[in-house]
Amino acid sequence: MPRERAAAFAPGRVNVIGEHTDYNQGLALPFAIAEGVGVRAEADRERPETVRVQARDLGEHDEFPLREPGPARGWRAFVRGMVAELDGAGYPLVGARVRIEGELARGSGLSSSAALEVALCLALVALGGGAVPGAAETRDRLELARLCARVENEWVGARTGLLDQLASLCGEREHALCIDFRALSVTPIALQLGEWRFAVLDSGERHAHASSGYNERRAECARACELLGVGSLREADAGAVAGLPEPLGRRARHVLGENRRVREAVAAIAAGELGALGALLNRSHASLRDDYEVSTPAVERAVARLRQAGAAGARVVGGGFGGIVLGLFAPATPLPAGAHEVRPSAGARLL
Ligand code: GLA
Repeated sequence: MPRERAAAFAPGRVNVIGEHTDYNQGLALPFAIAEGVGVRAEADRERPETVRVQARDLGEHDEFPLREPGPARGWRAFVRGMVAELDGAGYPLVGARVRIEGELARGSGLSSSAALEVALCLALVALGGGAVPGAAETRDRLELARLCARVENEWVGARTGLLDQLASLCGEREHALCIDFRALSVTPIALQLGEWRFAVLDSGERHAHASSGYNERRAECARACELLGVGSLREADAGAVAGLPEPLGRRARHVLGENRRVREAVAAIAAGELGALGALLNRSHASLRDDYEVSTPAVERAVARLRQAGAAGARVVGGGFGGIVLGLFAPATPLPAGAHEVRPSAGARLL
């Protein structure tokens, strides 16, 4: 049964470790944060074939036909793409007025895009009378994550993987999620921080994955796989990678090392060794800077500020080329000015 109204909230995420591994069938360890994007949708009986959208924080709006919305740019591409993809996948949809309320800065590295996609997805599915899977129903959430990623890939033009959408959809309080992108499994890992804190600091630089070096990195990994004769870098071995031409060798070396660091991070968390986790964050950053080359001078300055303030580890998060950096702080270490704490929080939900 279609509803009169539906509202959903989807969180952003930080990634503890495991960067640029998702599209290489590797491992990552993100958690959903408390901040995110809210979407309120109301059935529009007067105009059942139209979707009207208001982006509250931008003071902008859009209006398009429910069937075949046609392309657009910026935030409009996400909404039109979501409606088209849900329609194409057979979800019942109704004409609607939609309101978007965000607390996540776009391009900040906290995954505002995935939060917007996921909140739209849950609200529109519920409004049309479709079933929205609960947080524990990982298989069904995986289907929604794929649908959201298609919006980003096909409508927005960013060849991103499933990391952000799965983190937003499957997040759990006080847990990180160990995601294996080959098995497509999501394993909650208790993240007992005690007095330790994760904090983010904005580098001040904004990015858009559709235009940053993100798609180029992805293409380099695909080329490395071709040369190695493997389906994904998960199958590659270190010896063969060493023989690749540069920069492909450096790119693949990062991915192999990063998968290893995710495993080590899970072990460090299980053993309660958060200092060791901090050291892994630093090693991940060095690899992202030197081998994967997704850092920038502004990101380096932000990482240096966190370390000078006493962070046990700090690194660039998400696609890189700007956005926020993440630091891990031991008990009784004050956060530097401008940094704010992020806590592992619940995943996307209907309100
Ligand atoms: C962005 C993408 C993700 C992932 C990260 C890098 O956040 O959206 O799919 O590739 O970059 O780990």
